[in-house]
Amino acid sequence: MTFTFSTAGHIVVGAGASSRVPDLVARHGSAMVVLGHHTDPATGPLADLDDPTLVRWSGEPTLDAVDAALEVARATRPDVIVAWGGGSVIDLAKAVGVLAHGDRPVLDHLEVIGAGAPLPATSVPVIAVPTTAGTGAEVTANAPLLSHEHRVKASLRGAAMVPVAAVVDPELTATCPPDVTAAAGLDALTQCLEPLTSLKANPISDALAREGLARAAAGLRRAFADGSDLAARSDMSLASLLSGMALANAKLGAVHGLAAPLGGMTGAAHGRICAAVLAATTEANVRALTEREPDNPALGRYAEAARLLTGDPAARVADGVAWIRETVALLEVPPLGELGLDRRDHARVADAALVASSMAGNPVRLTRDEVLEILDRSA
Ligand SMILES: NC(=O)c1ccc[n+]([C@@H]2O[C@H](COP(=O)([O-])OP(=O)(O)OC[C@H]3O[C@@H](n4cnc5c(N)ncnc54)[C@H](O)[C@@H]3O)[C@@H](O)[C@H]2O)c1
Repeated sequence: MTFTFSTAGHIVVGAGASSRVPDLVARHGSAMVVLGHHTDPATGPLADLDDPTLVRWSGEPTLDAVDAALEVARATRPDVIVAWGGGSVIDLAKAVGVLAHGDRPVLDHLEVIGAGAPLPATSVPVIAVPTTAGTGAEVTANAPLLSHEHRVKASLRGAAMVPVAAVVDPELTATCPPDVTAAAGLDALTQCLEPLTSLKANPISDALAREGLARAAAGLRRAFADGSDLAARSDMSLASLLSGMALANAKLGAVHGLAAPLGGMTGAAHGRICAAVLAATTEANVRALTEREPDNPALGRYAEAARLLTGDPAARVADGVAWIRETVALLEVPPLGELGLDRRDHARVADAALVASSMAGNPVRLTRDEVLEILDRSA
């Protein structure tokens, strides 16, 4: 077996960990801070930074937002970028970091819709501080960006995009409203399930995905019910971090294959989209594997995931799917129709999903009809 594994060079985890950010910044020099509208830079550790350049962003990261922030970075030439926010802010900062020393707009470098020009080999160092739990974007090498013009999300991807440091402080997630907790938390759960069953899994990503699933099972419903439950928030922050480490090294699957066109066509939050298709996609994968590849080890992985999610050592695949369905309902995740997807667009979504890069990790090749059925059952 041959595989590689890479992640952020330095990871700090725990309640209060974000107080370490000023020291980490001081190792580099002048800072640009990309932050969400929910964060007040005049309080907490950001207040201790020496006159940083501030760039604010909320909502899915768009190409225009990256180009605007790039202009600021190219003019101010920061030594380090602090990404203090949800996955959207972190991805925006990672994109700016890797393109800051160049002079081209982001579209030139994008997969699928752009020219795919190679990324620079180095980035302005990024210190990622997630305020959601989450996306794991603090340890991944890509940034899915939204093009309104092309109605799709496409990734900027390169080894230099992995942040130099990830500071994972569950206290920062305590202010997340329930809908953000639900969407981000279900994204983290999906990002553990898909690497566990991925064709590209390896023993390290397996270990991380298993622990992440157990943490998500322990924390997700509790964090949604009571946002001030620090133990639940800690489980979810860790699940998110582990999911990012797993996905960056084992790839994903059909849920994320569908999420790429669905995100572009609806503009809905990524985590809500993943949540809306998760149960039907798992069922479709299990059915396809059972019918066409009954010896595929991924079937055992789905059974293992069922045991981890339900906490029942006798749980079977169907129990895991039932747990997912129940959790999605409890967390009040709307179906695709309510996220803005018109049934007339199902065929377009299916065609785009089948060629999306995440599909390469799916444990079985789904047919177009199977993908259409997933959309139908999630509508
Ligand atoms: N790069 C990767 O590997 C990777 C992996 C998964 C997802 N993503 C991307 O991450 C993005 C989604 O990130 P997300 O789920 O973290 O949501 P988000 O960053 O879009 O944030 C959602 C909302 O919550 C607010 N918010 C964030 N933290 C808060 C807090 N502590 N208190 C109150 N409000 C808060 C934000 O301002 C925003 O309005 C998507 O674009 C998705 O494609 C990237």
